[in-house]
Amino acid sequence: MDNYRAAIAEVLFDESRIAQAVEEMAGAIALEFSGKPLLVVGVLKGALFIFADLVRAIARQPDGPSALSTDTMWASSYGESTRSSGEVHLRKDISVPILGRHLLLVDDIVDNGRTMQYLRELLAQRGPASIRCAALLEKPERRLVDVPLDYVGLRCPNEFVVGYGLDYRELYRNLPYIARLKPESFAPEHQ
Ligand code: PRP
Repeated sequence: MDNYRAAIAEVLFDESRIAQAVEEMAGAIALEFSGKPLLVVGVLKGALFIFADLVRAIARQPDGPSALSTDTMWASSYGESTRSSGEVHLRKDISVPILGRHLLLVDDIVDNGRTMQYLRELLAQRGPASIRCAALLEKPERRLVDVPLDYVGLRCPNEFVVGYGLDYRELYRNLPYIARLKPESFAPEHQ
């Protein structure tokens, strides 16, 4: 499609709604980790924008963490499809030891929950002081595994959404809002 904006059927969460959700998450996180050092781990690639916005929003909160460090992991299970392969592939690990540290995992969306569960269990084996999980979006109707979500920004309807980090075939991640695509915007095998 020439103009990718023409592929959008409906904006579900606009920029200001997302910003408000990020601010609320940051306030709650700052409260829990007030005066404590925190390592925030963003789950690439989808969490690119929520990770960047959330760590800066935490910095704006009064009485937040005593120190905040960042790292990233890369996990993927969707490939080019709109459906999860059911298998999570770890493509990049964090690069720092986490023994005794407070950790916050940040993802853009928790769908069936396998990605967050996989990463949480992997990191738990390394002896952190605590692990919390945050996601900008969750789709409660799609959950297949029971992973605790400590901070959730927005509840998402059971639809395939793009924007603000979420992609379809690596497109649309850069949209500043979260939207539903028109059915004809999917490749024929996904319609
Ligand atoms: C997406 C998203 C989450 C995961 C959620 O990643 O960014 O990490 O799926 O799905 P789940 O709860 O069903 O496991 P994806 O595998 O598409 O990789 P990407 O972030 O690189 O696009």
